[in-house]
Amino acid sequence: MADSPLDWWRRQGLRFRLTVAAAAVLALALALSAWVLLTVLDGALMDTVDETTMQQAQAVRVAADANTLTSPITTHDGTIVQVIDARGRITHVTYGTDRLVPLLDARARADVLAHGRPTMLDGRPYAIPGFLRVVVLSADHGQTVVAARPIGEIQTSLATAARVLLVGTPALVVLLAVASWLMIGRTLRPISALRKSAADITDTARSRRLPVPQSHDEVHSLATTLNGMLSRLEEAEQRQRALVSDAAHELRSPLASIRLQLEVALGHPEGQQWPETAEGVLEDTMRLSRLAEDLLALARLDERGGVPARREPVDLDEVVRQTVDRYGEARLAVCDPVVVRGDALDLSRVLTNLMDNAVRHTSSKVEVTLTADGVLTVTDDGPGIPEQDRERVFNRFTRLDSGRSRDEGGAGLGLAIVRETVHAHGGTVALQDAAPGLRVVVSLPVSR
Ligand SMILES: Nc1ncnc2c1ncn2[C@@H]1O[C@H](COP(=O)(O)OP(=O)(O)OP(=O)(O)O)[C@@H](O)[C@H]1O
Ligand SMILES: [Mg+2]
Repeated sequence: MADSPLDWWRRQGLRFRLTVAAAAVLALALALSAWVLLTVLDGALMDTVDETTMQQAQAVRVAADANTLTSPITTHDGTIVQVIDARGRITHVTYGTDRLVPLLDARARADVLAHGRPTMLDGRPYAIPGFLRVVVLSADHGQTVVAARPIGEIQTSLATAARVLLVGTPALVVLLAVASWLMIGRTLRPISALRKSAADITDTARSRRLPVPQSHDEVHSLATTLNGMLSRLEEAEQRQRALVSDAAHELRSPLASIRLQLEVALGHPEGQQWPETAEGVLEDTMRLSRLAEDLLALARLDERGGVPARREPVDLDEVVRQTVDRYGEARLAVCDPVVVRGDALDLSRVLTNLMDNAVRHTSSKVEVTLTADGVLTVTDDGPGIPEQDRERVFNRFTRLDSGRSRDEGGAGLGLAIVRETVHAHGGTVALQDAAPGLRVVVSLPVSR
């Protein structure tokens, strides 16, 4: 298929395109200004010539009207003057001027007089080199004053200026093109360095960073931004790896426990209490399935990237009442009607996780309140969480009481699910000291 010039242009490198574009614009601008300069200069010089010629002509006319013309007429600036009488004869001239042939014949004189504007005349037929500017004035008694001034010098100067511009302009354009080519090359060098090192980055490379140029320009900020992105990606990947290894770790102990119980039971079938074994195995299986469910919940939260699964109006007070009812030791102190937008199942999981924690750690009672401003609190009177750990416990697989019996505690995903779900619903979670015990304060935006 034929390639259009536009396609060809688009295929060229940035360096070439920028250089050509800059040179073209400069060439155009210079050509335009050269043309303007020559035109203005030409006009200004001609105006000056016309003015002085006119002054001379007027002076001669005044003398002609007064009949005080001398022969030859004297002018001080080389203006040629012919005074022609009513019958077309030349009566007075400046020194060295033709006395027989008028510079302009009768018709031409009448033309110039009618237009009132000076005219241009080739001087060669009158043995004058170059062109002349001619002014015609009429005087008394049918006399006509013809004044002319050679403009050869002006034309030579203009021609010289044009020649200088003709050579200088392309030279300037070439100079600019070379300078742009070099400068753009220098500017683009760090970008190609960035590109090369970006190409070298593989997912196994240890340090994945791009070289940051020393100059504090756009390329510098591009490299810094890209490095920021790389480090965020690396962190995310590390978190993912840690999650996988933590999950595997958590799976190992219930699986080992199941295996041990079954091996013991099968190794000594005589006198084996199968219901007991089954109970033990069932307990471990429940732990495994809870872990799987929690991991799935977190994976879904990650997938959705901070938005709830649904945005339906949920009667939070209803959810709270139903959930708290399932816990014998819990007391629902306040339960104002509250409607929030979100996912009822996810919100009930939040409360379940908090209740599980509170019931597990409390020494006597658990109190739950829900106020009309969308603030839900779960308070227990257990050991509480020390100030310095109150942020950390929200991380995945973080357990403070890992020394305690594992059978009771979970994998350490509960609070992570709580915080991420609440954030997805546009709310906040805070842990407070209930002295004694812990108060978890969840506040959710109320839908009106
Ligand atoms: N009400 C509480 N009182 C004292 N400590 C608590 C309380 N709630 C949570 N913690 C501490 O915070 C840790 C993290 O809680 P989180 O709910 O995330 O995990 P978990 O309860 O151990 O396990 P999971 O919820 O996955 O079954 C707990 O291991 C516990 O040490
Ligand atoms: Mg928990």
